Amino acid sequence: MKDAAPQAVHLDDYTPPPFLVESVSLIFRLDPKATKVQSRVRFVPNPDAVPGQALRLDGEGLILLNATLDGTPVTARPDETGLTLPAEALPRGPFTWEAEVEIAPEGNTALEGLYMSKGMYCTQCEAEGFRKITFYPDRPDVMAPFRVRIESDRPVLLSNGNPVAQGPGWAEWDDPHPKPAYLFALVAGDLVAHSDRFTTSEGREVALNIWVRKGDEGRCGYAMDALKRSMRWDEEVYGRAYDLDVFNIVAVDDFNMGAMENKGLNIFNSKYVLASPETATDTDYDNIERIIAHEYFHNWTGNRITCRDWFQLCLKEGLTVFRDQQFSADTRSGAVKRIEDVIALRARQFREDTGPLAHPVRPDSYVEINNFYTATVYEKGAELIRMLRLLVGAQAYDAALQLYFQRHDGQACTIEDWLQVFADATGRDLSQFKRWYVQAGTPRLHVDETWEEDSGTYTLTLRQHTPPTPGQPLKEPLLIPVALGLLAPDGREIMRSAVLELAAPEQGFVFEGLPARPVPSLLRGFSAPVILQHAQSAERQAFLLAHDTDPFSKWEAGRALARNLLMQMSRADAAPGPAWLDAMEAVLADDSLDPAYRARLLALPDEEDIARALHEAGHTPDPAAIHAAREKLRQTLAAHLEPRLATLYDTMDTPGPYSPEARDAGRRALRLSCLSLLSALDGGARAARLFDQAGNMTEQFAALNCLLHIGAGDEAAARFYRQWAHDRLVIDKWFGARVRNAPPARAAQTAEDLSRHPDFTWQNPNRFRAVFGALTANTAGFHHASGAGYRLLADWLIRLDPVNPQTAARLSTAFETWARFDPARQQMIRTELKRIAETPGLSRDMTEMTSRILG
Ligand code: TRP
Ligand code: ZN
Repeated sequence: MKDAAPQAVHLDDYTPPPFLVESVSLIFRLDPKATKVQSRVRFVPNPDAVPGQALRLDGEGLILLNATLDGTPVTARPDETGLTLPAEALPRGPFTWEAEVEIAPEGNTALEGLYMSKGMYCTQCEAEGFRKITFYPDRPDVMAPFRVRIESDRPVLLSNGNPVAQGPGWAEWDDPHPKPAYLFALVAGDLVAHSDRFTTSEGREVALNIWVRKGDEGRCGYAMDALKRSMRWDEEVYGRAYDLDVFNIVAVDDFNMGAMENKGLNIFNSKYVLASPETATDTDYDNIERIIAHEYFHNWTGNRITCRDWFQLCLKEGLTVFRDQQFSADTRSGAVKRIEDVIALRARQFREDTGPLAHPVRPDSYVEINNFYTATVYEKGAELIRMLRLLVGAQAYDAALQLYFQRHDGQACTIEDWLQVFADATGRDLSQFKRWYVQAGTPRLHVDETWEEDSGTYTLTLRQHTPPTPGQPLKEPLLIPVALGLLAPDGREIMRSAVLELAAPEQGFVFEGLPARPVPSLLRGFSAPVILQHAQSAERQAFLLAHDTDPFSKWEAGRALARNLLMQMSRADAAPGPAWLDAMEAVLADDSLDPAYRARLLALPDEEDIARALHEAGHTPDPAAIHAAREKLRQTLAAHLEPRLATLYDTMDTPGPYSPEARDAGRRALRLSCLSLLSALDGGARAARLFDQAGNMTEQFAALNCLLHIGAGDEAAARFYRQWAHDRLVIDKWFGARVRNAPPARAAQTAEDLSRHPDFTWQNPNRFRAVFGALTANTAGFHHASGAGYRLLADWLIRLDPVNPQTAARLSTAFETWARFDPARQQMIRTELKRIAETPGLSRDMTEMTSRILG
């Protein structure tokens, strides 16, 4: 039985729960080896379900001590995944199930359910962790108010909702808002709070606390500030106010993902809470702001309105990512935020969508739901909301969201419910739009132009095509919003953005009476997650880079130029022409452009981006050649721009105390991009100086990276380590920087050496990812022809899998691009994947991943 193939769950098999839960009460007697969990659950038959069904309770790894039904002992015998109370054994009406189970949080290394992190008890229940705590219908469409009592010797005892009572060694919490079990949370530890207050627009006084281990309390200020700004923003923009008397956040060091939106008790990976100027970079501050906002926004989009089943995950995640993107765009430069989001979308989601792991934003089957917390569900899910908003308009979007909150508050919903709200609020038929949710793959958008000089008629012909993806050979045409502007040959704008709606496989759009042949600025703001196939000359791209009034498309033009150049250079001994270099010089010199934006313009596409583009164009990417081409182009660019880079490096200094605000962060971004290019010329002289004098981690870490990248960083790295040996978050950076910057031929060896370092606590996900995530991010190193990178990663995934399958399975996606490469690399990767797949006792998580990747 043990080795039987894991069972898939199918959306089509959904049936409503036979019983609903009226209330839950839990008592925890915490002990590292033998925690006792007593539960009392009031069940009522679900009027919407077929009557006379058995009650199935999920439960995994629990020792059942005793159980009663309406007070009468039951001799239920659990199986591997739970227990069934047959229909005959159940009273007709409502009834009460009581049980006591024993669990051992100390031995829980998977970090799912109740576990321990440095002496602190904490929980992670999404998606299906609650079943590791007690027997319960662990499915999101069963929502109930929870009451929790914690007994423990730890001084701080937290759970969801409002505190009701406490005494020495115990505390009680009450969460009046019905919630699914995946939003349950409990924390017990020796914690200190950074506290504040917030008065909601409805006049509610909310106590805010960020709980951390002693010594970290001075690093919570920025997270608290971001929280208060998020709360205000959600009131102002979405009309959503907070609904409990306390909002608690806890930082834990051992955590599988970024953070978790448990009702009233968010639990965070400490790397997304703790920040001080000396220890955190601008990127860290950005991430903290974004993730604090994301988890807070879930209070309405996810918690008050949740998902009917896990296939609907994008209902909460896509929408909440879109909301956090809007928040960040409002807080910082909207253009730069959009550019960063698109870079990430292409790097993670396009990559996923064109490989063996492609799946729809709403998948229709899964083996292990943890494997579906993907870029497609999250980031493409957010793009779908963005398109919807563009199609119906901002006002109609706002009206639809108000209807959504009003109609579905307290419910567990589907994508059908969501789209129905939009149909009802706007009168639009969204049946074609719905295909975006159920059809996997990135559409290709082919563009043709014709121009009739005599009549001044310009015709744009758009054709769409979505290539097959696993299990979906044939694709239907999608409704694609294409934002378009038209520029005159002198660079003036003759048409501001209009949104063309491409619904058919092919459609022509005619513009009449134009004085001269226009230059189209297509897909402004990246109006749809598609790959544009538009054969444009380098001159035209340079023209758009110089003149486009849409900041995204301007950047995109520059990026396309650089990408094409790098594709050529990686395939033959090409060199950049003066046109590109001059264009780059011009944008860098344009002081009307925000420094953060100029930093983005200056950055070259990364190696993964170039490899993907080569594959898309029908070529086999050579990771070594791509690396060499990119290094060469950086060198050429640096040499061409040297005086200007040097000046900017000096003038973009940010004197005075460090501030994470957008203005200073943007100046640092530009300054440090200049530094990185200059390091290719000055032997690291500036970087070495900055490393010595840096007053904040942004500068110190950038300087370290520059030095490591040019192979002159050994001494700086040693000093950095000595300076920060006591700080786990900074030491994670140190591990990562050494691996990411290792020359390709040394990357695997560097990672292997570091895996023997006494600080390599590999069971900690942050540390594991610091080394092995960095190895996979070192594209040329990971894909080095020796295959050493593949072997090392496979060795460590095999080792991690029995300890923490979720984190191991997630990192296995590094192998998803195997089919792009030459036969030798394909062979090596497949060999490693098979070696993993054949490991005895492999987790369900990893079994599913290897079999999907191998195809
Ligand atoms: N719902 C969380 C979020 O998007 C992410 C999440 C899902 C998660 N499963 C998890 C976090 C497991 C940590 C561990 O914010
Ligand atoms: Zn989320």
